Amino acid sequence: MPGFEVFGREEKKEIADVLETGILFRYGFDKERKGTYKVAEFERQFADMCGASYSLAVSSGSAALRVAMAALGVSPGDEVITQGFTFIATWEAIIESGATPVFTEVDDTLCMEPADLERKITERTKAIIPVHMMGAQANIKDIMVIANKHSIPVIEDTAQASGGKLDGRYLGTFGALGIFSFDPVKTITTGEGGMIITNDKSLYLNCSAFHDHGHKHIPDVERGLDNRRFMGFNFRMMELQGAIGLAQLSKLPFIIQEQKKNKKIIKEALEKIDGITFRRTFDQDGDTATFLAFFLPDGEKAKRFNQILKKNNVGAIYYKDNTWHFYPNWDELFTGTTLCKSGWPFKNAVSGADLMYQKDALPETEAIFERLLVYPISIKMPEDHLANMVKAIESAGKEVF
Ligand SMILES: Cc1ncc(COP(=O)(O)O)c(C=O)c1O
Repeated sequence: MPGFEVFGREEKKEIADVLETGILFRYGFDKERKGTYKVAEFERQFADMCGASYSLAVSSGSAALRVAMAALGVSPGDEVITQGFTFIATWEAIIESGATPVFTEVDDTLCMEPADLERKITERTKAIIPVHMMGAQANIKDIMVIANKHSIPVIEDTAQASGGKLDGRYLGTFGALGIFSFDPVKTITTGEGGMIITNDKSLYLNCSAFHDHGHKHIPDVERGLDNRRFMGFNFRMMELQGAIGLAQLSKLPFIIQEQKKNKKIIKEALEKIDGITFRRTFDQDGDTATFLAFFLPDGEKAKRFNQILKKNNVGAIYYKDNTWHFYPNWDELFTGTTLCKSGWPFKNAVSGADLMYQKDALPETEAIFERLLVYPISIKMPEDHLANMVKAIESAGKEVF
């Protein structure tokens, strides 16, 4: 999964280019930087890869979500629908935008269940954020049909699926906006960093201004004299991140190819066990193979299977226990824990509209996670480690079934 596994000469050369100019800021200093614009080049190459018209690099995937929602005008009183299996950043960004997160069930795609999405749309729904979890596609085609029917814009959270596709089309290009993360454990990494892509010029201009204090970015106007379109904030990426991003992007096809090879070996071992099934995906070719998700027939078997894997030092992730990604484990959401004495943003003294969530609100998701095990896939998995995994899977299969 993590692009840091393949750091090498290319990243060093890109970083050296920047340090030679002495300019770490992505804007201005046109004379001093001698033609080196790493963030802008990273944006151009990322958009070209995806086949998107516009792209904006930002300081993180979380920032990308916040900026994308700002571009759509998401604000207090709005609801934004996302799914009950995602990294907390997705709903944090909704709350940071002043809106109310509404959570859908996930199905055996481990992503947003379209039928539940349709049930949860109200007249207050301002945006929909399906998340392409763990490297592969959400049911984005069905989700887009529903969103279009109700004229609600979609932000695809593609933080975990850079380079992923569906029927040859890049994930992140189906909705109004797509966002990506390049944090330290992502398929390609810039340490911290993110990207927004869109085909809509006005959304792009909103993003570009909002992420830079509202700056108009008028070409050839000195930065200090260029005024602001509206109030924004600072979510900028800097040149060193752009430089690393360029090197990493050039390695993305190799990263995906290697992960696919490793995933295939482990999946073949699991396929031999009657009773094990796999996450539903819509396009194996378009999978980035960062994870391998599989189901046991019930929770008891999933736990026993994993105990044996763990005994052999090749344990899988039991996401039901994971506190970062799984709805019932987001304690601060249910307790409304915040640094603010007033309880804001969970309590709103002005409107009186408090945010309230119930741990048992997503029973289908919970039932699916009860029997789910997941292996993260790395770029470099030594042959002996893979062989150990296969052996452990075989013995777990014999003991549990
Ligand atoms: C689904 C999802 N959305 C958003 C983010 C936030 O990205 P970042 O860590 O770059 O802020 C992550 C990060 O793990 C993620 O997995």
